[in-house]
Amino acid sequence: MLRHFLRDTDLTPSEQSEVLGLADRVKADRWAHRPLAGPQTATVIFDKTSTRTRFSFAAGIADLGGQPLVVNPGEAQLGVKESISDTAKVLSRMVSLIVWRTFAQSGVDEMAEHATVPVINALSDEYHPCQILADLMTIREHKGDTRGLSFAYLGDAANNMANSYLLGMVTAGMDVRIAGPEGYLPDPAVVEAAEKRAEQTGAAVLVTTDPALALEGADVVCTDTWISMGQEDEKGDRAEVFKPYTVDRAAMERAEPDAVFMHCLPAYRGCEVTAEVIDGPQSVVFDEAENRLHAQKALMIWLLAQADRYDLDTGR
Ligand code: CP
Ligand code: NVA
Repeated sequence: MLRHFLRDTDLTPSEQSEVLGLADRVKADRWAHRPLAGPQTATVIFDKTSTRTRFSFAAGIADLGGQPLVVNPGEAQLGVKESISDTAKVLSRMVSLIVWRTFAQSGVDEMAEHATVPVINALSDEYHPCQILADLMTIREHKGDTRGLSFAYLGDAANNMANSYLLGMVTAGMDVRIAGPEGYLPDPAVVEAAEKRAEQTGAAVLVTTDPALALEGADVVCTDTWISMGQEDEKGDRAEVFKPYTVDRAAMERAEPDAVFMHCLPAYRGCEVTAEVIDGPQSVVFDEAENRLHAQKALMIWLLAQADRYDLDTGR
């Protein structure tokens, strides 16, 4: 059956765990699966800039035997001269996978509605689900099982990372504590969706303006930029509002002594995190970055297998 990955809850808890297990195997044996050998083309379209997403998808598609076609902002007719639905129908006739980084989530949702090949959200204003798969893989590597762990996120609690952490981490059975200032807290609909998912996995959700409450005894401490792509005009106001949510040494001391620090990158040292923390011994940010490659390869293999375009057992 054709499946897409547009938001974190698109994978059930058992499917997420299956993809993460596959990611571990993919990491151990980088060239074991070649579902795109032929080579088939997979496209990665960017409406916003990127380093990790661009290189991890391009390298990952090549590792899977495929030909990556990376499209930079403004290079396609998409969104300017041509509708999303026509683009979806045209690309589906030519490529095996569509990966898209864009602004509104409604765009990737619409692309998936009209595509006949798997569509992957490579970050929208609302969600960044590929990052969460890599982060979960990293947490499993450092902490073993994710179930029962506490995950604390501080900073812009209304952005794509906060939303995806809410949905994706509870899917993996982690307690999620999100702390941000008034006015920058998650959309209640996302919190409700996370609570619903948490009921299935035995996890808990806490949304607060108090960073200390979120950090108390956390196993993972995480943050993200205070100014996401598209919010550059709000720079001045945001620096002041978010200051109390900086992850510094004092913040890390509230968490478990063996807590790890995570950040999807790019990071702004001296804003959301101090250099001492992100460059210190508890930081696992470069493991996270590397795991984008392995987790996304596993996701692409899994989606191609779901669509009957690849057999995981025979490797054909
Ligand atoms: N973390 C992440 O998605 O990084 P890029 O914006 O560089 O792709
Ligand atoms: N919240 C950030 C994530 C970057 C990977 C942004 O959208 O810019």
